[in-house]
Order: sequence, then structure tokens, then C-alpha cells
Amino acid sequence: MKNRVCTALGIEYPVVQGAMAWTSMAPLVAAVSAAGGLGVLGCGFMPGPVIEGQIAAIRSMTDKPFACNIFLDPGDQLEINCSTLEKVPVPAVYLDTLNLLDYDMAARIYDRMKATGAKVVAKVNCLQDGLVAEKAGADVIIAKGVEGGGHKARISGRVLLAELVESITSVPILASGGIYTPRQVAGVFVAGAEGFEMGTAFMTSEECPIHPNVKAKVISAIDDDIVSCGESTGEPSWQVRNALAERMLKIEADYPKAEAAKLIMQVSAGSLAKASRDGEVENEGAVLSGQVCGLITCVKTCRELIAGLCADAEAILQMPHSMGL
Ligand SMILES: Cc1cc2nc3c(=O)[nH]c(=O)nc-3n(C[C@H](O)[C@H](O)[C@H](O)COP(=O)(O)O)c2cc1C
Repeated sequence: MKNRVCTALGIEYPVVQGAMAWTSMAPLVAAVSAAGGLGVLGCGFMPGPVIEGQIAAIRSMTDKPFACNIFLDPGDQLEINCSTLEKVPVPAVYLDTLNLLDYDMAARIYDRMKATGAKVVAKVNCLQDGLVAEKAGADVIIAKGVEGGGHKARISGRVLLAELVESITSVPILASGGIYTPRQVAGVFVAGAEGFEMGTAFMTSEECPIHPNVKAKVISAIDDDIVSCGESTGEPSWQVRNALAERMLKIEADYPKAEAAKLIMQVSAGSLAKASRDGEVENEGAVLSGQVCGLITCVKTCRELIAGLCADAEAILQMPHSMGL
């Protein structure tokens, strides 16, 4: 029996490293792909020449398949990503969206990327988007739950996975959001997933080229340290509680929505780079992490997070299971 995710993407283990803006850069992408998963360049907001440089760097480190992120939202950045990936084709594209997925736009962009030879990985936040992604021709679909890092999704990962596997059979579904332990991986396979995605776990990996202070902050955080910041902007993301997060929460409590959104943009400008590049994780830097941080207690290698986790999960799946009734 061949796993459909591995076959579709040409990878050894059905593990995708979630795109992470300015975090999943070439060294992490190459390490994940070399370890048999699918590394994804977090280039959703990068200028074209930077994307080209990162792709060249990945290719110098591995000949295994990898993907580039496209944020499926109309605008200049979408055209920058698409035209760059037409100029420099890659094995797969990884498309995410925050708003409801528009069928015509999805089909047009998927077709454009497929014409370059790329496989299409669609990350969705709700059942409706999953159905649109399937109809538009996605090769695999990632079901991202609300507990997952980065921009906050809306639906619980457990519910969304169940909805998608009940409704979609032509395309394999991967579970995403809050995954770190072998029992969780075994559980999502029992629930119908054929692969899984992790973001926060790979952010804390040895090979991730972000400042060690960010990894330490995430490793020391517990589930309750994760707060939703930027609700007034309509695009909230999970952050580890620190002085910046407290300021953002206070703004949202004190001001009407439109005013709060403007102030949030001001105080958070450049905050991701302050943390991941400069290591400022207490006052002005934004430390993005999913709720899974409470399970992460040490830095691991990408091999441990891919081959190790899959082997341990497979061993659990081979054991007899019963409700003991
Ligand atoms: C620091 C960080 C940055 C992220 N940036 C992006 C991004 O640019 N594009 C995207 O599609 N998802 C982004 N995500 C979400 C991840 O791709 C992935 O879906 C999510 O982390 C999975 O949940 P987990 O963190 O619980 O494993 C980001 C996540 C983190 C932790």
C-alpha cells in the first residue's frame, strides 16, 4: 500500500512543514526535504528576487522536492509570487488563504502553477474552502485547525478533519494544528488523515535559522501563554504572551474596532523581524506560536520530527486498540 500524500508529492514521509513567513527560510526547507518531508519556503510576502535567491539556496542544499508559499489573496504580492514561480519553477506550491476561497481565482492560479509542473498543496480553514480546493484541482489538502500557529483559523482541527475526510475522497487530506506527539499522529491517521503538517514544531527545530531566543521562548511557554492578537484587524494570530502582546490586547480592549486595528498595525510593524532576526522576545518582538508550545520541551532535529515521529506513530498504529468494553 502506498501513501497517497507521498505519491502525490514525491516524498518519503507524509509530513509537510507549514509555510512560516521569514521563518521557514532555505536552511529549514532544505533540512525538512532532505529528511524526507516537504519543506515549504515561507515566501508569501517576499520580493521576487529574494524568493529566487532562496530557491537557489535550497537547490544548493538538496535535490529533494520542496514547495513555495503563495498567499491566495488578490493583489500585487500574488502576481509577484506567481510570476516568480513561472520564471523559476519549483516542485510544489503551497497556497493558503484567510478569507473564503473564491473558485474562479483558485482554479486560475492552480492552473497557472500546474502549467509550470508544480503540484498544488492547498491549506484550508473550513469545509467550504476544502470543497473549492478539491474542485479547482488541488493535489493534496491540508486541514488547519484553530489551535495551529500563525494566522488564527476558525474551526477546531478535529472537527475540520472529520468534515473533510467525510466529504472528500479524491484528494488526500492532511491534519494540521497542534500536532507534536506520536499519539496525536496516530490519532489523526485513525481519524482519516493521510499525512500531517507541523509549523511550530519545525520552528523550534535545530535547523530553523531563527534567533535562539525565539525557540527558547516557545519551549518555555505553556498552552495558556498563547494569546490571540489582532482580532480587530480581522487577521488575528497566536502570539506568546509578552509586553508587545499585552499592549496589543490592551489596545483591543480600550479602543473601538477600526481605531484599534490602526493602532495594532502601528505597534506590530516589524515585530516579527525584531524577534526572529534580532532575538528581542520580551518588549517589541512578536513570538508567533501555536497552542502546541506546551508540548514542546526541547529542540529536535528535522529527522527526529519526521522519521522519528512517523516510526513511533506507526508502532502505535500497529498495536491492537480497543475501548475495553
Ligand atoms: C511563526 C509562524 C509563521 C507562520 N507563517 C505562515 C505563513 O506565512 N503562511 C502560512 O500559510 N501559514 C503560516 N503559518 C502557519 C503554518 O504554516 C502552519 O499551518 C501552522 O503552524 C500549523 O500549526 P502548528 O503550529 O500547531 O503546527 C505560520 C506559523 C508560525 C508558527
